Amino acid sequence: MDKLIIEGGNRLVGTVKVSGAKNSALPLMAATLLTGGEFTLTNVPGLKDIETFSTLLSHFGAKVSENIDNTVTIDTTNVNQTDAPYELVKTMRASVLALGPLLARFKKARVSMPGGCAIGARPIDIHLKGLEALGAKVEVEHGYVIVSAEELTGADIALDFPTVTGTANLMLAAVFAKGTTTITGAAKEPEIEDLERALTDMGAKVEGAGTDTIKITGVEADALRAIEYRVMPDRIEAGTFMVAAAMTTGNVLIEDCPKDNLQALIEKLKSSGAKITTEAGGLRVTGDKPIKSVDITTAPYPGFPTDMQAQMMAMMTISSGLSVISETIFENRFMHVAELRRMGAKIRTDKKNAVINGVRELSGAEIMATDLRASASLVLAGLVANGKTTISRIYHLDRGYEKIEDKLNKLGADIKRVHNDNK
Ligand code: UD1
Repeated sequence: MDKLIIEGGNRLVGTVKVSGAKNSALPLMAATLLTGGEFTLTNVPGLKDIETFSTLLSHFGAKVSENIDNTVTIDTTNVNQTDAPYELVKTMRASVLALGPLLARFKKARVSMPGGCAIGARPIDIHLKGLEALGAKVEVEHGYVIVSAEELTGADIALDFPTVTGTANLMLAAVFAKGTTTITGAAKEPEIEDLERALTDMGAKVEGAGTDTIKITGVEADALRAIEYRVMPDRIEAGTFMVAAAMTTGNVLIEDCPKDNLQALIEKLKSSGAKITTEAGGLRVTGDKPIKSVDITTAPYPGFPTDMQAQMMAMMTISSGLSVISETIFENRFMHVAELRRMGAKIRTDKKNAVINGVRELSGAEIMATDLRASASLVLAGLVANGKTTISRIYHLDRGYEKIEDKLNKLGADIKRVHNDNK
């Protein structure tokens, strides 16, 4: 298993380009299941999760190319399987996104029920309630969700929580449903808007993404066609670079930065003392000392993203005061706290809140990544720590960050990847 070894203390200076968004690419890949034909997705990030989803699509009978120069072609003409086995789903929860399009196109699907994960229980009850509202029969048997329908009919679906993949799944399921489907309390995340754009290009009738009400008017199956589509840039990767620049008192120009989707983070970074300016080439972040402490509460978009919570916590560990970070989306998303403490961070937690008392300096240590965004926070901590930080279990990081050490090293970081077969 690979490890990262980081020599801390370097300022990050230069230009970095943001990759395509994992959380947009995955629902777009799922959308290809809706109709037969050859799709071309560009700006697809080179990530483990993308490979896993490609394997899943191949399992269904699609012909999926390798990701070459961030382009993946997916030919779904011969898709003939509607069964997603446990071995594939257990490595990636987003596999559940296959439910909606398979149900829409084949009127049935059997997908292994995703289990809990490091950050929480993460049930899919809201997805299933929505599918039932469209007229599907939903059963859970032997660890699998089995959905079937003779016909899907448009319905009014009120979500109990604006679940992101739940909203995407229901949009996909409703594309051919007779009449109109209205999803209220929908997730407003930009990746949902990206899905709407792609579905519209394909010939579906979807409107309202980006607001809490999304309307899908059912079209005939033959109205859909395969398309070429460019995945939007990854706001969380961009945000991670922004925090890296601010923390290291660096000066970094972030190219292809979806700044309009990062307003909550930009506000917090500015309050902490960072300078953020828009330039023709992208967004420039200049860090300044001391880092002022800020309080953060995660919330569904456009609130502060839970996927940036761990990274901001890493920054607050070296702030000049006391900061309170409240996590409201996932019940167990403070796994990075114990690791940051090993580096000298002063953090107390109760269930939902972390109180961080800024210290002058972190000290490099041997630490372990626990989930995707937690891993990113540990890399950030390593960048500013005194001495050497060794992070193990970085496969979590590789699920969601394309060539992160190459990108950071180009900005002046000192990160080495070492291969270790023993651990
Ligand atoms: C997506 C993102 C993930 C991000 C999260 C929140 C993808 C592939 N992943 O995850 O990076 O951290 O949004 O912004 O896009 N819930 C239920 N029942 C359901 C569905 C969700 O109770 O049926 C709960 C979850 O347990 C969680 C909360 O709702 O507490 C938010 O989950 P959700 O928005 O569904 O997150 P994901 O779509 O899984």
